Amino acid sequence: MIRSILSRPAYEEQTAVSRESRMAWWRDARYGMFIHYGLHTVLGRNEWAMALENWPIDQYEKLAEQFRPKPGCAREWVALAKQAGMKYAVLTTRHHEGFSLWDSQANPYNVVRRSPGGYDIVREFVDACREAGLRVGLYFSLMDWHHPDSWRCAFDVEARLRFHAFLKDMLCELLGGTYGKIDILWYDVARPLESAEGWDSLAMNQLVREMQPEIIINNRSKLNEDFSTPEEHITAAEAGRAWESCMTFNRISWGYIDPTQVGPYSYNAQGILRMLHSVCQHAGNLLLNIGPKIDGSVPHEAVEPLQSVGRWLVKNGPAVYGMLDRSTVFHANGVCSFTQRGNSVYVWQWIWTTELILGGFMNPPKAVRILADGRTLPFDYTPGRITIPKMPTDGRDRIANVTILEMEFISPPVHYRCSHYPQLHLGRDLH
Ligand code: GLC
Repeated sequence: MIRSILSRPAYEEQTAVSRESRMAWWRDARYGMFIHYGLHTVLGRNEWAMALENWPIDQYEKLAEQFRPKPGCAREWVALAKQAGMKYAVLTTRHHEGFSLWDSQANPYNVVRRSPGGYDIVREFVDACREAGLRVGLYFSLMDWHHPDSWRCAFDVEARLRFHAFLKDMLCELLGGTYGKIDILWYDVARPLESAEGWDSLAMNQLVREMQPEIIINNRSKLNEDFSTPEEHITAAEAGRAWESCMTFNRISWGYIDPTQVGPYSYNAQGILRMLHSVCQHAGNLLLNIGPKIDGSVPHEAVEPLQSVGRWLVKNGPAVYGMLDRSTVFHANGVCSFTQRGNSVYVWQWIWTTELILGGFMNPPKAVRILADGRTLPFDYTPGRITIPKMPTDGRDRIANVTILEMEFISPPVHYRCSHYPQLHLGRDLH
C-alpha cells in the first residue's frame, strides 16, 4: 500500500512536474486503437445492451457460456493496429457489464472462470502489443452493472468502502507487475458517484502511480489527470492541455455490431484521414475503436480502411507523427486543409487540382515539396498568394486520394485568414 496520501493540490503539482516527460511518447504517437470486447459482443447490439435492454443480471451472466474468444484474437487486433500505423492500443479489460477479461481473483466474474475455453485475454493483448512495439493501454470502467455494491455505494458508506476495495484490488492485479509496464490507464464512466472524493480517486490514482510511475491517466476518474477525452467528436482542449478524441468506427457502437446491419456508416480510408487531420490541426490524438466479434475476430468493415491508412502513413507519416503545433493556418484554399510544425505548413489536398493557389500567406516559402516522395515543386509568390501552377499527376496520392505538400518557410509562416473581401485584409484599396 502507498505511504501517506497527498492532498489534491500537492498531488496535482507532483504529477504536473513529470507530465511532459511521461507524455512525450504519447504526443508523438498521435494515433491509437481502442478495442471494445466483452460479453456484450455475444448480443452484438451495442456495449450498453445489458442496461438499455434491462437484462436481469442472472440472465446476462449466462452469456458468458456463449463467449468464445479464439486463442490469438488479441494478436489479430494488435497486428491490424500495427498495419494501420497506430502506435498504441487500449483494451477494455472490464466494461460496464463488470466482466473481467483476465483471471481475476478479486472478480470471479471473468473470462477464465465463466467462459468455456476462456483464457487471459489481457495477457495475450499486453504481450502482443510489446512484441509489435505498441504501447499498452488498459481501459477500466468505474461503473459496474454486476457487482452488488456498485449502485449501493451511492448511499451506503459500507458498500462504498467495499466497492473501493474491489476496484483497487483489480487495479493492483492489472498494474501491480503481473502484466509488466502499463503505459495508459483509461478510466470510464464514474457513476453513480459524482466526485473524486466519492471515488477516492486521489488514493486510487496515487496507488496506480506508485505501481506504474510512468503511466498516464485520462480524465474520467473525476480528476483532470493527464489528458482530456472528447468522445465521438474532435474538439481541442484548452491550449497546453493534452487531449485525445475517441471515435467509434461505425458511428453507432463501441461494441460489436454486425456491419451488414450498419450500412454505409463505417469510415473509409479518407474518412479516417479526415479525423487524423483534425486531431493534427490542433495537436491532439485520435483513439479509433474496433468492436471485435463474439470469437474476437476483427470486424471486416474495419480492416481494409485501416490497412490503407497504414500504407498512406508510411509515405506521409511526418505530417502526423511527432511534435505538432496548433495550426494558425485556416481557409487558405477551398479543397485543402492545413497542419503545422514550426516553420512548416502541411497542405492536405482532399481534392486533386492541377493548379493550386493558396491565399493569405504574407511571407514566401523557402521550398514546396510533395511529402510522399520529397520532390520539390516550382511555385510563385506574391504577398497574399502562393501559386503552384502545375501539380505533377504522378505525384497524386493513389491510396486515399489525399496528397500532402510540405511548405517550408524560413521563418514562421504569416497567414491572414481569407475574409469575404480577400483583398481587404491585404490593405489594398479596392477602388
Ligand atoms: C462511453 C460509453 C462506453 C464507451 C466509452 C468510450 O463512456 O458509455 O460504453 O466504452 O464511451 O469512450
